[in-house]
Amino acid sequence: MKMNDLELYFYHNDHRLIDKWSHYFEIYDQYFNKFRTKEIVLLEIGVFQGGSLQMWKHYFGSNSKIYGIDINPNCKNLEEDNIEIFIGSQSDRSFLKKIKQQIPQVDILIDDGGHTMSQQIITFKELFDHIKETGIYLCEDLHTSYQIIYGGGYRRNGTFIEYSKNFIDHLHGHYSEQSSLKTNSFTKSVKSIHYYDSIIVIEKAPWVEPQRSTIGETCITDYYQKPQGVKKIKWDLKKSLLLRINKILRLFKIKGFIWK
Ligand SMILES: C[S@@+](CC[C@H](N)C(=O)[O-])C[C@H]1O[C@@H](n2cnc3c(N)ncnc32)[C@H](O)[C@@H]1O
Repeated sequence: MKMNDLELYFYHNDHRLIDKWSHYFEIYDQYFNKFRTKEIVLLEIGVFQGGSLQMWKHYFGSNSKIYGIDINPNCKNLEEDNIEIFIGSQSDRSFLKKIKQQIPQVDILIDDGGHTMSQQIITFKELFDHIKETGIYLCEDLHTSYQIIYGGGYRRNGTFIEYSKNFIDHLHGHYSEQSSLKTNSFTKSVKSIHYYDSIIVIEKAPWVEPQRSTIGETCITDYYQKPQGVKKIKWDLKKSLLLRINKILRLFKIKGFIWK
């Protein structure tokens, strides 16, 4: 199979050490390729020996601006032309807030840092709004969501995978009929979410309200069956509303309307 440019670079690398899983290169190239001709801003969390930052610089060309973040102060020595490195922790919200003041909005963010649950979630919460409106947020090594040592565990509360499952709901916030799910900034800025083995890619794009159209000639009589269970769903919604009202009434000790 023909190798893409990133694989060619990686497998022939005699510059600084790079630490990547081999199946990541196809995914990177699929989403990053379109940025290659542009003056892009890339931020990678997790510098290690500096090899991946050099790889991005080579892939995106000399017009790109590459930023790295690492907790290891020695990483500062790996700076070079167009590669700037900030020292601090990705789980330190005030540090990340300062970064946003120091670097322009980014086209591509890669989270390849410490891979613990809180690090991944805090980084997303703090930096997602610093991605350009057509940019990409990529978090890798998601398998740590299944590894106890990183705070992971299957369906365990607080893992990045469990946290990211909410993204699917927010993507559809516009269609929600319940106040617990509303259109929010995620709904209005995300075009797509892609899951791979150990990688999530979130593509941003300016939101356009979805339009449904029926175009063409009617040829047959409709035979449309209502989806099963519509009545039950409506009843469930009513029931949850009544339960909430009931709770408020109880809270204020108002008698006379206690519905069971
Ligand atoms: C997997 S390595 C990065 C590999 C590198 N991106 C590459 O492809 O060669 C992880 C790096 O994350 C850094 N790291 C660990 N915890 C961190 C934290 N809380 N904040 C920032 N960086 C952290 C480590 O010092 C280490 O250099």
